[in-house]
Amino acid sequence: MTQHLAAPRTGTTAASGGHTETPGHRTGWWQDAVIYQVYPRSFADGNGDGMGDLDGVRDRLPYLKELGVDAVWLSPFYASPQADAGYDVADYRAIDPMFGTLPAAQALIADAHGLGLRVIVDVVPNHSSEQHTWFRRAIEEGPGSPMRERYHFRPGKGDGGELPPNDWPSVFGGPAWTRTTDPDGTPGDWYLHLFAPEQPDFNWEHPAVAEEFRSILRFWLDLGVDGFRIDVAHGLVKAPGLPDIGGGKLRLLGNDIMPFFDQDGVHEIYRSWRQVLDAYAGDRIAVAEAWTPTVERTAHYVRPDELHQAFNFQYLSTSWDGPALREVIETSLAAMRPVGAPATWVLSNHDVTRHATRFAGPPGVGTQTREAGDRVLGLRRARAATLLMLALPGSAYLYQGEELGLPDVTDLPDEARQDPSFFRADGQDGFRDGCRVPIPWTRAGESYGFGAGGSWLPQPAGWAELSVEAQTGDPGSTLELYRSALAVRRRQPGLGAGSSVEWLDAPEGVLVFARPGFVCTVNTTGTAVRIGAHGRLLLASGPVTENGADTDLPPDTTAWWAV
Ligand code: NOJ
Repeated sequence: MTQHLAAPRTGTTAASGGHTETPGHRTGWWQDAVIYQVYPRSFADGNGDGMGDLDGVRDRLPYLKELGVDAVWLSPFYASPQADAGYDVADYRAIDPMFGTLPAAQALIADAHGLGLRVIVDVVPNHSSEQHTWFRRAIEEGPGSPMRERYHFRPGKGDGGELPPNDWPSVFGGPAWTRTTDPDGTPGDWYLHLFAPEQPDFNWEHPAVAEEFRSILRFWLDLGVDGFRIDVAHGLVKAPGLPDIGGGKLRLLGNDIMPFFDQDGVHEIYRSWRQVLDAYAGDRIAVAEAWTPTVERTAHYVRPDELHQAFNFQYLSTSWDGPALREVIETSLAAMRPVGAPATWVLSNHDVTRHATRFAGPPGVGTQTREAGDRVLGLRRARAATLLMLALPGSAYLYQGEELGLPDVTDLPDEARQDPSFFRADGQDGFRDGCRVPIPWTRAGESYGFGAGGSWLPQPAGWAELSVEAQTGDPGSTLELYRSALAVRRRQPGLGAGSSVEWLDAPEGVLVFARPGFVCTVNTTGTAVRIGAHGRLLLASGPVTENGADTDLPPDTTAWWAV
């Protein structure tokens, strides 16, 4: 594959895409930042135990600097029994020994800052681990204990309380309730867990919960982090009385508002968190993991007195389909504009099948699939999708390994799998391990350079050629495409700025839009399309040759043009 990267341009200016900004418009480093998600257990293993760790991340910070991202978001590394890969936190102020120590976290933050990289950490406020002191005490101290009020304990239904208190399903499959055993050994009340049974939901009506999380935020802000990614930000508040959903389907996106998701009461919490963040110097931010029915509802989380960003899961869930992509781009920008927040864009993360695999089959694949599809097609589309994403105004999130064009590992043996949702859903769902396989750094060596002691999930044969080592310096590699794209984006700051794009006429299945000094052309179809001249070719995801009015865009290819 050919890539074209022209010499740095001069004389470009940041601009807002011709849009008049609203009074609520805010500025800051995060407005157009490219943020790289590190999944610590799978990024780099510093101590050779087969599990990634903070020292491993710290060693590889120069790689991220060179890649050209602005910030790093670290998935949880807190003390945890790892029932859900660290999203079950037992102590929010301690590092799990498998990831390192608090001084290791401090050293990582300091080194990142030394390189000019910001650091965002995960905070998990919807639920704790069942091993959290509060929950252990709630169980030990029995019914009526004050600690039980910090979670959702309820008597069961039925004559002997043998049925769950309501009909809520767990996101991971099965009921969202587990029955306790009282200290005297008899079956007792039930507790709520929207995820695994090892992840009891906090009761956010309790003032101690709210106070504790403000204190946790301050703890990490004092250590110097630049912000937080808020896990299940849409789930903290439950509808009064915990009403049944009455046969409604659990949907993360779509039109239903569930009594446990996206309740209006969550916004008061984020207004109070915003005050905590604003009390610190240095532009500290928070980004919501909020699965809401519509992008308009997502915008509520980023009103001027709430959070800074929210993930755009509608975008992530969109197929490689021109009209659908254009629509989600337009609705996302339109939803964010009135609140003055940047749109965000994301294609992959640790919960969904990597986009190189999602795009490898017919449209309509959900966020998780076990189908490997056509690898060549998937990678071609993934590269094109990345250049589209990085040309949009707002902030973009990258997931570790996507810069290597990694496919999902769809054929992991069941016995290797660790995702709790795989086991809860009876193997029908829950294939998140496939995107969590440790990434390859070198062609040779134990676990392709991930570490000196194997890897906690098996890596596929054939990843040597996808390694950082193999791709570095190869102008046709996906890694060099990302490096080039981020380099262009950095020196052309108008690219990420603003809140609108100007759509230009284009054939069916082709998107053409202008940004300041720049045109992006995207062919989402399977055939080459004549697009004519759009300026000087800056970068392309496939073999585009400038040929004036006769310029063709190959199938599933994006090209950037300087005008
Ligand atoms: C969202 C996280 O991204 C996911 O990995 C986790 O399983 C759930 N929240 C529960 O914390």
